[in-house]
Amino acid sequence: MEFLRSVVPFHPMPVISTGTVILRAPTMSDFAGWSSLREQSRGFLAPWEPLWPADDLTRSAFRRRLRRYHSEMRESTGFPFLVFTTDGTQLVGGLTLSHVVRGVTQSCSLGYWMGAPFAGKGLMTAAVRAIIPFVFDTLRLHRLEAACLPHNAASIRLLEKAGFTREGYARRYLCIEGQWQDHLLYAIVSDDPRP
Ligand SMILES: CC(C)(COP(=O)(O)OP(=O)(O)OC[C@H]1O[C@@H](n2cnc3c(N)ncnc32)[C@H](O)[C@@H]1OP(=O)(O)O)[C@@H](O)C(=O)NCCC(=O)NCCS
Repeated sequence: MEFLRSVVPFHPMPVISTGTVILRAPTMSDFAGWSSLREQSRGFLAPWEPLWPADDLTRSAFRRRLRRYHSEMRESTGFPFLVFTTDGTQLVGGLTLSHVVRGVTQSCSLGYWMGAPFAGKGLMTAAVRAIIPFVFDTLRLHRLEAACLPHNAASIRLLEKAGFTREGYARRYLCIEGQWQDHLLYAIVSDDPRP
């Protein structure tokens, strides 16, 4: 264990603030705002996400979610953020870094969602742009990947605005809304220009 601690660097979760949004790790006190925004946005989000378990919006499922997040943060394999307006009071969405792989790969995957009332205002573009220095400069990873459905025009536009390049097409890549669906593969690498 001591040996592992010495080779897996621990990265405390930062609070990342831009002129537009604040990103920070979720806590139990976020439950009410998170569950009400997710419920309000169900129809907007569901076509683009894995199936929501029946109990997904309950307090106990949120507690389990936080437990999983904490273990990923402890192991530095995942970094979950909630996104707030700049005064920190209004939750608008979420952004997650997951599947951190070290060794010869040095990569991780990006996921995100925006609450329906806040979509189309440039907030997730600001959040994704703000996470890029954390990925490359703090975590010192080399590659940040994202996948989206070929007909997800908002997600494609967001990734392209944030400096990602389309690299490929993966057949039946993720199980979205209960169906294995083809995805476009995007990535940004550490020496790409950052918009
Ligand atoms: C994808 C998503 C996270 C984008 O968040 P957002 O805060 O709305 O994104 P932004 O406002 O920063 O940027 C969205 C861009 O897409 C554009 N856009 C939105 N809907 C669009 C559509 N149907 N067709 C084409 N472009 C679209 C916006 O105009 C904007 O581009 P612009 O700045 O050039 O005008 C949000 O739409 C969302 O949560 N969608 C549902 C869930 C989802 O798709 N999750 C991601 C799965 S990969």
